[in-house]
Amino acid sequence: MSSKWLCERFRSNTIIIVFILFAGCVVYLSFKSSSKRTETDTNQSYYSDRRNDFDHDNSTKKCRFVFLDLGSNKGVKVRKVYEPWLYPKASFLKYFDEYFGPVSRTYRRQDVCSFGFEANPRHMTRLKQIEKSYINKGLSVSFENYAVSNRTGDTVTVYSETNFDLDWGAEILDTFINNKKNMTKYDVPTIDLAEFIRTSIQPLRPEKVLMKMDKEGSEFIVLPHLNENGLLCYNIITAMTIE
Ligand SMILES: *[C@@H]1O[C@H](CO)[C@@H](O)[C@H](O)[C@H]1NC(C)=O
Ligand SMILES: *[C@@H]1O[C@H](CO)[C@@H](O)[C@H](O)[C@H]1NC(C)=O
Ligand SMILES: *[C@@H]1O[C@H](CO)[C@@H](O)[C@H](O)[C@H]1NC(C)=O
Ligand SMILES: *[C@@H]1O[C@H](CO)[C@@H](O)[C@H](O)[C@H]1NC(C)=O
Repeated sequence: MSSKWLCERFRSNTIIIVFILFAGCVVYLSFKSSSKRTETDTNQSYYSDRRNDFDHDNSTKKCRFVFLDLGSNKGVKVRKVYEPWLYPKASFLKYFDEYFGPVSRTYRRQDVCSFGFEANPRHMTRLKQIEKSYINKGLSVSFENYAVSNRTGDTVTVYSETNFDLDWGAEILDTFINNKKNMTKYDVPTIDLAEFIRTSIQPLRPEKVLMKMDKEGSEFIVLPHLNENGLLCYNIITAMTIE
């Protein structure tokens, strides 16, 4: 059983899961709206028009866009939000341009708030440095040392290369790790991503939310959980990438 085969298999599984979840979301949404769409319809559009006006008036709205970076690793994706000119060849920039607008329009994308989660504590020193330097520039960036999951308050074991030259992110599921002998073991607290989105992101009323997930195993726990909570919908999470 080659690892290439495994990879292919995981990739197609992921695509299928994402497809099923989005299909589920569409059904969920249309069910919700068909049960509600009666007289409130005109008032709903009235309110959403008002909100758009408000957002246009306030073009300096701080968290107009949200980047949710699950598995921040060394923080490079977040740096690409605010300093894209350092990564001119990065293919991910097209997503930022598409969802947050081309960077020339808003220097340093001051209207994007970034929330990063990284399970591997060995990355945190560096991530906190990045966070601090961006905050000093008036940008809204945070990195937290949590394993993203469907519950808050559990603990997961994370193995990290002791010799940290390899670009090797934190992994949550033990099965993904072949050789644990040369690894350092950490117990990392989990955070309920659905709850985080509800309590920390939705109140910001962002126009768009782009979520990036690392394909590290936790997506099989987190995505169904978001779906059950009705959060995998384009009006809450505008777009999602899994890599
Ligand atoms: C919309 O809201 C206004 C004010 O709250 C109300 O007077 C009106 O009847 C509502 N219209 C509909 C179609 O519900
Ligand atoms: C934008 O809105 C915030 C709070 O909603 C307010 O404090 C700020 O003054 C507004 N800015 C502009 C330019 O209207
Ligand atoms: C683990 O460490 C030992 C001793 O440093 C080394 O000989 C071995 O090659 C390492 N194994 C892996 C998989 O890195
Ligand atoms: C979280 O996911 C695990 C694994 O799929 C499942 O066993 C558990 O019931 C889930 N917990 C919640 C609160 O959804």
